Amino acid sequence: MKHLIFAANWKMHHGPTAAAAFMEGFLAGYRPAQEREVWFFPPAVSLATVRGRLEGQPGLALGVQNVHWEMKGAFTGEISVALARDAGATHVLVGHSERRHVFGETDEETGRKVRAALGGGLTPVLCVGEKLEEREAGDTVAVVERQLAVLGDLDADSMARVVIAYEPVWAIGTGKNATPDDAGSVHEAIRSFLAGMGRARRAAVLYGGSVKPDNARELVTHPEVDGVLVGGASLDAGHWLEIAHAGTD
Ligand code: PGA
Repeated sequence: MKHLIFAANWKMHHGPTAAAAFMEGFLAGYRPAQEREVWFFPPAVSLATVRGRLEGQPGLALGVQNVHWEMKGAFTGEISVALARDAGATHVLVGHSERRHVFGETDEETGRKVRAALGGGLTPVLCVGEKLEEREAGDTVAVVERQLAVLGDLDADSMARVVIAYEPVWAIGTGKNATPDDAGSVHEAIRSFLAGMGRARRAAVLYGGSVKPDNARELVTHPEVDGVLVGGASLDAGHWLEIAHAGTD
């Protein structure tokens, strides 16, 4: 059976009060399964709340939505890898399209964050994906390869620890998802590019962008898709349970 990852990106939603209520609903309905992991990326202020609910639960993990590349210092508003680890995080989203396109994060900064995460013991989920005009110009693979090139100077062991999330920007929060075959062909291109950079083990590649309870099953059963990264539909415990159980019945 294929190993699947279901990652919930809550973005700027669910403070500690809402996070506690969400976790109560989620844990009441969750059926753990071998070969399935569920990762939560709450806002930083809710890490302690979610951590408290996840402790001792196999297959569930906690992450942060962003980190700074420095380990400490005068960086008001930022969180380091060490601080995230201390708060219980084991994973981190890096280069989410909102970081790139709303906050102007560059490929170079994204690369520094990946290296900081790996150096400090967090699993980075490197998000890549093209904008609509790039897709229409036929540049999808070139854009994704440029975003992946930041991994170029990693050694093989480090490279093997990076998880990729392919999230076409035009599909995020728009209700338009890539078809499983569209996603699958980009996932294949991502894997072959990484193999060309020396990645020995098959890379885990998640799909993200308007994943909902009604399309999750067809996405996660596609052979090229190793899981999903979900924003909007991960905010409701009932919807998130449907997605995290997709394909089990
Ligand atoms: P969405 O967001 O599921 O709301 O489209 C996905 C993401 O941004 O990770």
